[in-house]
Amino acid sequence: MNDEQAAPALAADPAWWRQAAVYQIYPRSFADGTGDGIGDLRGIISRIPYLQELGIDAVWLSPFYPSALADGGYDVDDYRDVDPRIGTLEEFDEMATALHTAGIRLIVDIVPNHTSDRHRWFQEALAAGRGSRARERYIFREGRGENGELPPADWESIFGGPAWTQVEDGQWYLHLFATEQPDLNWKDADVHEDFLHTLRFWSDRGVDGFRIDVAHGLAKDLGEQLPSAAELAELPQDGTHPLWDRDEVHEIYAEWRRVFDEYTPPRIAVAEAWVGSPERRAPYASATGLGQAFSFDLLEADFAAADFRSIVSDNLAQSGTTGSSSTWVFSNHDVVRHATRYGLPPRAGRPGKQGADWILDGGREDGIDKELGLRRARAATLFELALPGSAYLYQGEELGLHEVAEIPDEQRQDPAFLRTTPETRSSDGLGRDGCRVPLPWTREGSSFGFGTDGAHLPQPAWFAGFSVEAEEDDPTSTLEMYRRALHLRRELQGAESLVWDEELSGEDVLAFERPGGWLNVTNFGSEPVELPAGEVLVASTELGGAGVEAAGATRTLPGAATVWLRR
Ligand code: NOJ
Repeated sequence: MNDEQAAPALAADPAWWRQAAVYQIYPRSFADGTGDGIGDLRGIISRIPYLQELGIDAVWLSPFYPSALADGGYDVDDYRDVDPRIGTLEEFDEMATALHTAGIRLIVDIVPNHTSDRHRWFQEALAAGRGSRARERYIFREGRGENGELPPADWESIFGGPAWTQVEDGQWYLHLFATEQPDLNWKDADVHEDFLHTLRFWSDRGVDGFRIDVAHGLAKDLGEQLPSAAELAELPQDGTHPLWDRDEVHEIYAEWRRVFDEYTPPRIAVAEAWVGSPERRAPYASATGLGQAFSFDLLEADFAAADFRSIVSDNLAQSGTTGSSSTWVFSNHDVVRHATRYGLPPRAGRPGKQGADWILDGGREDGIDKELGLRRARAATLFELALPGSAYLYQGEELGLHEVAEIPDEQRQDPAFLRTTPETRSSDGLGRDGCRVPLPWTREGSSFGFGTDGAHLPQPAWFAGFSVEAEEDDPTSTLEMYRRALHLRRELQGAESLVWDEELSGEDVLAFERPGGWLNVTNFGSEPVELPAGEVLVASTELGGAGVEAAGATRTLPGAATVWLRR
């Protein structure tokens, strides 16, 4: 089976993904082509020239499937269709072809840990009743207590609130996320068959790869006697935990790999697996499994030279053992945008800049130094784009967008906000809506050019200054920095290796060289540092020092900044 639809611009290079710059589109918030306030495929098609100019290699599309949007589309009703508010299958094909013609690959999101409660299987399971074949596709249990009136266990869902919900006939089902997201039972043969069908369905339509949601959650072994939440929290995540990162999950991905390899070039996959260590991440990235896995290590780190260095070294060593390439991420649709994160004041009790709570912290205005945050974010991004491996970018970060904190509670959509109360929420945890606000394309106009009829989440007035229109052609803008760096990267990217420049590196400075004399220098501190000779390729801020233009003159790199030199 080989339906390679790629235009001539895309050679059938099986290694295309190894050092790709992948741009995540959150479809509902990217561009609205139909004027209903919700982003859609027509909007994406209309912005392909923008993506091409940006210089990315692939798009990762977050879920666009029919969904009630209980969790922004990660509650899927039908894995082999397009939500009518977002488009049609014909438009999907048109988009895939247009992206390929523009030299851009396409990765789609697969959500195999849970379906939505509107999925035909779950509806069937509800109707069929206890003990039925249909219920075996999910995780149903009898309750505790005299009449089964208590949940089978006191577990809390990831979004807060109970992880078990009772159905009409008295049984309970497990949902590790929202109530509307019943967990599938991956011991069931139908579940296996159906996902193989889905992978082929999209691969046949020319999709180049898949991002696998909650990849570490599929295999579960609950046993008869369920542990309590407290007991569960104590269990090691070493491959034997009842819920997370069980060793046998890789049998599923070996099965998927055989499907990926039916295609030319093989379809690729990247695991979203929040596991305990780089060692536990490795099997997800193996060539007999999904092939690549997100590393969130940089995303979770402080903006600090020593932390960045050890993370980079560890990750490169890790990919050496798996044969995969390294991945780097600073922002996505689940976390506070990095321009805001890096401006947060240090907070007591926060491990680094990010603890589990902090991920869902909506980035309130109080005490955030937005200017410093953006300055560091730009420096971090250039550092990232110089690293060997894949860079995963999130829509809007190329504009230097900050988290939007000023969304009224009644307009928030995230179940992580809706399922908690001010009492149970972390002090300022506002959920993830703040990084999902529709993009500003123009300075003015209805929804800053997002569409013609408003936006499904309110955009703040300051979006005008961060719009594509405002930043385009401004050589100092974040957009132009991304464009320049992404184009240069394509040209410069060689072997997947780097050598630390020990002479330049220090307590606050990290310098490394890629093959071909491509030198990255990042200053994490606040004092300027002297730069070596070399052609300046791109910088995250204006360089200092006398006679910057004059060859051989002393140039300095200010604090919180990165420069690429060719020497
Ligand atoms: C991870 C996704 O990135 C997130 O947005 C979603 O809420 C959960 N998985 C559940 O599907």
